[in-house]
Amino acid sequence: MARSKIALIGSGMIGGTLAHLIGLKELGDVVLFDIAEGIPQGKGLDIAQSSPVEGFDANFAGTNEYAAIKDADVCIVTAGVPRKPGMSRDDLLGINLKVMEQVGAGIKKYAPKAFVICITNPLDAMVWALQKFSGLPKTHVVGMAGVLDSSRFRYFLAEEFKVSVEDVTAFVLGGHGDTMVPLTRYSTVAGIPLPDLVKMGWTSKEKLDKIVQRTRDGGAEIVGLLKSGSAYYAPAASAVAMAESYLRDKKRVLPCAAHLSGQYGVKDLYVGVPTVIGDGGVERIIEISLNKAEQKMFDKSVAAVTGLCEACMNIAPNLK
Ligand code: APR
Repeated sequence: MARSKIALIGSGMIGGTLAHLIGLKELGDVVLFDIAEGIPQGKGLDIAQSSPVEGFDANFAGTNEYAAIKDADVCIVTAGVPRKPGMSRDDLLGINLKVMEQVGAGIKKYAPKAFVICITNPLDAMVWALQKFSGLPKTHVVGMAGVLDSSRFRYFLAEEFKVSVEDVTAFVLGGHGDTMVPLTRYSTVAGIPLPDLVKMGWTSKEKLDKIVQRTRDGGAEIVGLLKSGSAYYAPAASAVAMAESYLRDKKRVLPCAAHLSGQYGVKDLYVGVPTVIGDGGVERIIEISLNKAEQKMFDKSVAAVTGLCEACMNIAPNLK
């Protein structure tokens, strides 16, 4: 069977890390695309030269031409600019929207059957615009946010409880921003919900609240430390988990920014919700019932995403 073809649109910090992880996991052949000349070619060659040591077989082609992504099975989009300290994800909107228009046209022309994972920020608005610009089915264009946000949440919880990260599950809903909604009652250690762990004396409500806030600010914490860019190891790992679930038809339950057409009372927006990802793309959106406090946080998050999409429409009226 021919290997899958995975196109990385954007070969910066996340793009390079994606290529390396895809190689290590032998998920398929990789095409690194970027407007910067030499960067995708150099990263591709460097990673290919690690393959004899690591023992993986895959081709890594670097390119500045969209034609090279032809018939890709998966496209992972990181093209654009990342945050600098003091910037919010939303500050990137104007520049990255123009990038999404170019990327959408390239994917539409050369890889219309691909499963597309968008990482570029502000995520919920960029994935919404990318779907419109590309015209690909809504089941085949998703945003990577929830896997990363819940992974951060899981890591902080595992640290607090001094247990393996593998035994912590966490649930995050809503937009990828300060309004994200970490759901403590659906987050567990080996199936025991967090509120029960508070009752059992494993932690306090105050400590949990702090962890929730640190999760919300997870991206900014890294930006503040790196100073010259934003996170890339955990975002890349999260997108690879989504790509793997699609390519291997694993049907994993993953929180993603998915197109809502009435679910959770939301229409024509991308918002973070639990989904099932398999060879049909986003095969199912899981609707859980929210309590009053959660619904309030979710509504606030949806309002923030709506505001970003409106800002996009003001810049690019063809998105309406
Ligand atoms: N087409 C293709 N590539 C582009 C374009 C474009 N129009 N504009 C910029 N790029 C490329 C840049 O040349 C750069 O190599 O996108 C790459 C982005 O890489 P980095 O600057 O290293 O950013 P990275 O950390 O990978 O983050 C990318 O993901 O998490 C988000 O907020 C982050 O929006 C940012 C994106």
